[in-house]
Amino acid sequence: MKEEDRGIIEEILRLKERRRAVILSHNYQREEVQEIADFVGDSLELSRKAAGVDCEVIVFCGVNFMAESASILSPEKTVLLPELDATCPMADMVRVSGERKVWRTFPGYEEQPTFRFPHHFTLREMKARYPGVPVVAYVNTTAEVKAESDICCTSANVVKVMESLPDERVISIPDRNLSAWAARNTSKEVITWDGFCHVHDRVTAGDVRRAREEHPEALLMAHPECRLEVLELADHVTSTSGMLRYAGASDAREFIVGTETGLIYRLKKENPEKTFHPLRRDMICPNMKKTRLRSVLRSLAEMTHVVKVPEETRLRAKRALDRMLEIR
Ligand code: 13P
Ligand code: SF4
Repeated sequence: MKEEDRGIIEEILRLKERRRAVILSHNYQREEVQEIADFVGDSLELSRKAAGVDCEVIVFCGVNFMAESASILSPEKTVLLPELDATCPMADMVRVSGERKVWRTFPGYEEQPTFRFPHHFTLREMKARYPGVPVVAYVNTTAEVKAESDICCTSANVVKVMESLPDERVISIPDRNLSAWAARNTSKEVITWDGFCHVHDRVTAGDVRRAREEHPEALLMAHPECRLEVLELADHVTSTSGMLRYAGASDAREFIVGTETGLIYRLKKENPEKTFHPLRRDMICPNMKKTRLRSVLRSLAEMTHVVKVPEETRLRAKRALDRMLEIR
């Protein structure tokens, strides 16, 4: 540990106590941020934690939709997002209504114009096209979008959530890959939004073949935000914390990790005798990496940036999150 970091950590711990704060971190955060967190987990675990944690302040080291979910579930607490522009581009691919957004590209997609994402529809237009069909919103959505949805899901429970609905058809937003995976594993007809995560969607079956050639003994774990062509070749498809459980329980010694490389820190820490290889080295979410120790310190010192969902939106979004959290 750097000497400079030691001083920052001491200050964070002092302020954390004074503010009666709890630090939550997603599994993709920087190593040093994971280390100072009170709890590190996947989206589902973090939602459950945010709903039940005993404190006055939650410092959410992740991206903005996660802090919004914490604010929706714990409105009496002050929820802080240390870096205001830590966003999830996939969450921004759905809007409820209003102006069409301009097309945008993502790092690594510049050369592939077909991957430019045209925001053809609004969620309300989609719902009008399929009246009565329930909307399942991945937690990677804004509070406004959750408020327009029937139930939320995460990568850990998408199949259970869809199966819990009495309807034969569901609208699934925003991830086309997670939706395709759910369609494969449920009896439902899944009407899919055309969104994607630029970190996971760039991986191809060719990358899997290359990784398997390099590490013939390794088991491949893949996140359901990867394309179906990748998921079909995986040994296990699961959320980030699902990968931690799978690698911990498995007798295998070597794994290829098909998700954001930040997870590898925890995988190695919890399984020092096992080896983990990234499926692709560039599976790095720039937004998840924006939060540094200094950001956490500033956040606690200045009480920034407060994430507060307006009450009317919060109550409607909470219904969708609560419905998900009721499913075990
Ligand atoms: P998990 O819920 O699996 O942690 O994934 C969150 C996420 O943002 C994946 O890109
Ligand atoms: Fe969003 Fe993808 Fe980053 Fe997860 S990894 S926060 S889905 S951009």
